[in-house]
Amino acid sequence: MCGIIGYIGSESAVPVIVAGLRKLEYRGYDSAGIAVYEQDGIKVIKRKGRLAELERHLSEMTIKCSSGIGHTRWATHGEPSDVNSHPHMGSSNKVAVVHNGIIENYKQLKERLEKKGVDFASQTDSEVIAQLCEYYYNGDVLETLIKVSERLEGSYALGIMFHDKPDMFAAVKKDNPLIIGVSEHGNFIASDVPAVLNHTNKVYYLNDKEIAVLYKERVEFFNFDRERLDKSVETVTWSMDSAEKGGYPHFMLKEIMEQPKVLRETIASVKAVDNLDISCYNKIVITACGSAYNAGVAAKYVFESLCRFPSIEVELASEFRYKDAVIDEKTLVILISQSGETADTIAAMREAKSKNAVTLAVVNVVGSAIAKEADYCIYTAAGPEIAVATTKAFSAQLVVLYTIAVAFGTKLGKLSDVESKLLTEEIVALPEKVAAILDDLEYELQKYASTCIGCKSIFFIGRNIDYAIALEGSLKLKEISYIHSEAYAGGELKHGTISLIEDNTLVVAISNSERLYGKIMSNAEQVISRGAKVLLIGSCAGQGGDNAQDSDKLSSIALPECNPLFSPSLSVIALQLFSYYVAANKGLDIDKPRNLAKSVTVE
Ligand code: G6P
Repeated sequence: MCGIIGYIGSESAVPVIVAGLRKLEYRGYDSAGIAVYEQDGIKVIKRKGRLAELERHLSEMTIKCSSGIGHTRWATHGEPSDVNSHPHMGSSNKVAVVHNGIIENYKQLKERLEKKGVDFASQTDSEVIAQLCEYYYNGDVLETLIKVSERLEGSYALGIMFHDKPDMFAAVKKDNPLIIGVSEHGNFIASDVPAVLNHTNKVYYLNDKEIAVLYKERVEFFNFDRERLDKSVETVTWSMDSAEKGGYPHFMLKEIMEQPKVLRETIASVKAVDNLDISCYNKIVITACGSAYNAGVAAKYVFESLCRFPSIEVELASEFRYKDAVIDEKTLVILISQSGETADTIAAMREAKSKNAVTLAVVNVVGSAIAKEADYCIYTAAGPEIAVATTKAFSAQLVVLYTIAVAFGTKLGKLSDVESKLLTEEIVALPEKVAAILDDLEYELQKYASTCIGCKSIFFIGRNIDYAIALEGSLKLKEISYIHSEAYAGGELKHGTISLIEDNTLVVAISNSERLYGKIMSNAEQVISRGAKVLLIGSCAGQGGDNAQDSDKLSSIALPECNPLFSPSLSVIALQLFSYYVAANKGLDIDKPRNLAKSVTVE
């Protein structure tokens, strides 16, 4: 987590860096800080709290400078405080560092440096990098960075300024993302592309153990053998607009509304992996974190139904990486990740590869670690997603996974050409249905959500694939509204959780399968008779609550007809709008929920 940025060029550096930090705030918002050159050396200004705190402080100062580095923090080692904020300086003020990542051996390094008389100011792991840089710095930037990197264990993307080199700064990375943006007026480092999009769409992707040295007019790249690298610049297709709110009160609402377009573009751009012969495999493992994992749970039902594959498992990446999985070269491991940088998903990918499994990644960010390292990669065309709670990237992941399932099912002979064509048509029809939900049901969901802001607990239930989307609905709600929430398979509620149902506890029941409608309605009745109220969402919800014991307690939101296998794409839109409006009614900071970060680059 954490976002880093750096700029050197002909524009005034402070506003450029602060604007970049604003675009990176989704990566962490416990504190923010910058380091710039002034005539008497490097100056660090940093503040606990949101970027706005730092901006308020900066507005009272006049700083003239044309280069600097900046950081927005998601605290790991050391509480959020001014002193634990980045940039960190060496104790002789010769080096300033911004860091994204975790230094695992920082305690040993710190002890060693303290024995040599170095004074530490903070409780962070990151300060050790600044102190180590200063300890080794002899005027030779490359030599220093190589020595420092060789001693660091863990992950890092670093921006580093040296007190006697006002015309340059340097960057190096291992296991955390870093891009180099080149524009007409100057050059950048950044954790992610949106931070530089206002200035340029030309970027270099820095690889692990590569060093970039940035000057106003040029950027030089080196490996750890001090050899100069000839890297090629890439053109980013993401537009600047996609990283702006465009009149919406929150990025989350804007991103919810973008989904018909994102689905259309993703469906049009997905190329089934033709050169991947699914008949060579006897096991599929889907692994991911957070919402991407929930997309994987939904996909398992789709793969099972359409491919009739003998063994399909879905695993949390944080568990899979440590479980000594029974996989081999006949296993296809599907990794799902918006950012392509989630530490646990990267580790799961490496674990799979070490056991000779073949990896297929579904990723949104071009050039990210997972996109680069997986054997096969399919991109979702969601564009930059800024709100911490994912919406459009999740929806794009679903349609990619459906498309893969249809392709595999066809290849395996489990689907006839006619069935495959029909299923493809159903996928192609999804964006219109999503648009209809956004147009027709937003107000209704908003109204219902306004009655829920006092809820202490909300449960989500569903059966089969509706259970998968209940997981996502519940996660969405709790992460942005701070209301306790759990998701259960409808049949499980009575095995314990039903004891939590009190008068007016809300249970959101998802129902898109005619076959299971009666079953989920029985579950709804069981909770209604214990005082709960139920919100029924799904294509079956239009059937009304004729079986419900107490219709005052039952509300329905009917969604368009759809093949149940693809219904997660519709249910999730209603659930996103519901969560959004619950949080909006509570006046919460929806795009940046407390304690969270979008890109989780630590374990
Ligand atoms: C974080 C985000 C979630 C996301 C998860 C996995 O927790 O807040 O929205 O689903 O990470 O991220 P990834 O980038 O791998 O999809």
